[in-house]
Formats: sequence, structure tokens, C-alpha cells
Amino acid sequence: MTGYSREEAIGRNCRFLQGDDRDQPARHELAQALRAGRSCRVLLRNYRRSGELFWNDLHVSPLMDSDGTVTQFVGVQHDVTERVRTRDLLARSREALKGFSSVVAHDLLSPIATQKSNMNIVRDFFIANGEHEALPFIDAAVRACDRMSSLVVGMQRSATGSECEFQPVPVSLASVAGEVLDDLREPIRSAGAEVRIHSLPGVLGDAYQLRQVLQNLVENALKYRGAEPCRIEVGADVQEGIAEIWVLDNGMGIPSDSLESVFEVHVRLDRDRRAAGSGLGLATCRRIVERHGGRIHVESAPGQGARFSFSLPTHDCSEHHGVASERSETPSSL
Ligand SMILES: Cc1cc2nc3c(=O)[nH]c(=O)nc-3n(C[C@H](O)[C@H](O)[C@H](O)COP(=O)(O)O)c2cc1C
Repeated sequence: MTGYSREEAIGRNCRFLQGDDRDQPARHELAQALRAGRSCRVLLRNYRRSGELFWNDLHVSPLMDSDGTVTQFVGVQHDVTERVRTRDLLARSREALKGFSSVVAHDLLSPIATQKSNMNIVRDFFIANGEHEALPFIDAAVRACDRMSSLVVGMQRSATGSECEFQPVPVSLASVAGEVLDDLREPIRSAGAEVRIHSLPGVLGDAYQLRQVLQNLVENALKYRGAEPCRIEVGADVQEGIAEIWVLDNGMGIPSDSLESVFEVHVRLDRDRRAAGSGLGLATCRRIVERHGGRIHVESAPGQGARFSFSLPTHDCSEHHGVASERSETPSSL
């Protein structure tokens, strides 16, 4: 680790590994702990015989005699240079990503806002001329603008890591599921799928992240559909303030030895060549559900479809977002 031979090192105070680099907060902290006879763990800049810097994760503990008097110290050193470099590299990339995502978010949000305000002008124009047939399409376009804005804001929050610090707020899962269906209209139509949303409760959480979970699960069910016409159901069972939300499909199912690993990053079952994606979807779902204090799991067998379910604390959202309602999308209703 240091490049010094035993003969060169034995009998010397280990401080020689610091060279001239003595003014380190970690060294002061260590010196204080040693004076007080306490154990201590610090990250020190040390130098190899060649003069090359290495980061030393040093753990020092006192040894005492039967009277409790400190007689010696034991130190365990770990060269963690690679870890520190990777951490610094990550911190720098995160900073760069933060800056980049702020610029992208700003550049995307302003044309979306312009688009929305133009759509509202067109809406007023149609109303003034008594032409009402186009209004549902204009309203859908305005809603799509709102969703785009919230997606951009959510994307920015994921990029800056601020999603980890969210404050749970009341969220209507019925509204969230409705938005997911609106966004997945085209894939639902082209898969010839029937998606049924049962009554869903209000919950406490972060609407953007919960939408990611539902969207990922429904998209997965579409991707891994089986030979039968694709049927997907989304529903919830509520008990004592906890909702178990489930997404059920009649797709190709998952082998029993993959039921846990589907939630791991970069594991994607090659169940079907049609299935495209990064393999991050279910790992993201697990991360979000666990951040909400819940757990996600799947029950499935090959050829038997899959039932993904996750738990969340409930909240009465009727005052905030309207009551939960049922909704169904079939190829013919799209
Ligand atoms: C058991 C033990 C192991 C130590 N190992 C290291 C080490 O690997 N590298 C280092 O820079 N300091 C090490 N130190 C700390 C230094 O010997 C010294 O205590 C520290 O620099 C603070 O004291 P000083 O201000 O007198 O230098 C170790 C100390 C003890 C007691």
C-alpha cells in the first residue's frame, strides 16, 4: 500500500506518511481523539514512497489494561483512493448534470408555456365563433402541455437529486392513473390492450414519482404481453390506512427464479424481443416505493401473467383532487 519496506516503516510514527501535508482537518481530529484515548475513524491524505498521494481510511482504537488505562492503540488502514476518485468524479458529473438539466428545463418550459397560452387563445376564438367541436381536442392539448411541464420539472428534480428530499403531500392515485392512461394511449391502442382502472384511493406521496411507478408498471405489462389479447387492471385494496396498489396483467409472466432480480438495475428479462428499454424501470419503481416507506413485490409464473403490488399510506383526497373513480380504456374507446 505505501511502497515502504517493513524495515523502513517499523519503529517510525505513522505520521511520516503525511509528508509535508500536515494541515489536514482529519489529522487534527485524529490527534484530539488519541489525546482523549478515544477510537476514531478518519480519511487522511497520505503519500507512498514514490510521493504519490493515496487516501487512507484509518480506523484507530485504544487498548486498555485492567485499570482502564490506555496502553496502546491499534490502527487499521485501507487504501480507498479509487473510491474517493470515483466519488469526486460522480460529484463533478452530478454538478454538470444539474447545470445541464436546469438549462434544458428552462429551454423546454418556456415553449411549453407559450404553446399552452396559444392553445387557450385558439380555444377562446373557437368559443367566440360558436364552434365547439374542436374544444375537446384543444383541452386535451392544454392538458398535455401541463403534463409536459410537470414531466420536465420532475426530470429536473431527478437530475438534481432533490426528489430524495420530497415532502409527502396528498395525491389522488385516480388522477395519476388517468394521466398515465392519457400518456399511454398510443401504445395501448397499438397493443390492442384493454386497461381497466378500478377505484383508487388518495395516498400520501409525490405525484410525479408515483406516476413514474404506475406508468412503468403499465408499460411493462404492455411490453411483456402474451399471446392472448392483452388485459391490464389497476386497483387497490385498502386496510387500516395502508393501500396495496396492484397492477395485474395476463402477459407472458416471469419465471420463479427471476421474481426478485426483476427489481435490480440492469436486469431485463429477454422474455420477448419486442421488449425494449433500459432495464431501469422496475429498479426505479422499487427505489420510489421504498423512498415512500413501502415495499414492492411481484407474483407471477410463466404464461400466467403477473401481479405487481406496492403499499402506500392512504389519505382522503376528496377535497383536494376529486373522488376516486373507475375508468377503462379499450382499443375501441381510444
Ligand atoms: C495505531 C495508529 C496508526 C496510525 N496510522 C496512521 C497512518 O496510517 N497514517 C497517518 O497519516 N497517520 C497515522 N496515525 C496518526 C499519526 O501517528 C499521528 O497520531 C497523527 O498524525 C496526529 O498526531 P500529530 O499531530 O502528532 O502528527 C496513526 C496513529 C496510531 C495511533
